Formats: sequence, C-alpha cells, structure tokens
Amino acid sequence: MTATCTVLIEPSGARVAVETGQTLMAAARQQGYRWPTACNGQGICTLCYVTIRSGHAHAVPPQPAEAERLAEIGLDPARQRLACHLEVDGDLTIVKRGVALRKHLTPDKRLAAESAASRPDARGRD
Ligand code: FES
Repeated sequence: MTATCTVLIEPSGARVAVETGQTLMAAARQQGYRWPTACNGQGICTLCYVTIRSGHAHAVPPQPAEAERLAEIGLDPARQRLACHLEVDGDLTIVKRGVALRKHLTPDKRLAAESAASRPDARGRD
C-alpha cells in the first residue's frame, strides 16, 4: 500500500508530498522544485544533503551506499541525509537552502505547489 507523507522544507516553507518508496529529491523535482545537485541524484556530489529538524524517526535508515558517503564527508546519518536517497515513512521537517519552484512551471503545477505550501503548518510533529 502506498502512503503519502509530507516533508516541510525550511526556510522556504515548501511542502513536498513523498510517497512510499520515493526519495525526497525525486518527489520534490516531480512537484516542480529545483534541488541542488551536480550528480543528478547518483549519491556522489552530496550537494543534496539535508538536516533533519524534527520527525527523525520517520526517516527510513540509510542503505550502505548512502551511509558510506555520509561518513566520507563527516555527516551524522542520525541528523543529516542525502535527499536523493532519503525515503520517509511519516511527516518530518528538514532544513535545506536552495530549494525553490522552477520558474517555468505550467500554471496548474505552480498553483498546486503553492497551494500545498500554504496548508497548515506541520512543525512540531515528531
Ligand atoms: S544529488 Fe548528488 S549526492 Fe544526492
């Protein structure tokens, strides 16, 4: 069964709906957001990394390849993850600068993304 979770991205306030088995970065890009990357989600560049602010228990534990890459650059997998590998099983809040809606979205996609971003705040959930 597919579940949909919400990831709140600070400081932009963007909200991304992430389905079971989907990575955060893939979901965000599918919903019209630009996400910092140089390797296009291959787990190499680490530019996509995020810091989890709340809801840590809802971050699916990293697979060995991601854990190894995080260790190589000195990030703590309990708090920091690669968005191109991060899957979630509940709502959480992260910090990531540089995430923004692409300028050339069709009007319906822009409206859907802006509508999602204006929904009631999920901060404080864990
Ligand atoms: S996008 Fe390059 S490591 Fe995630």
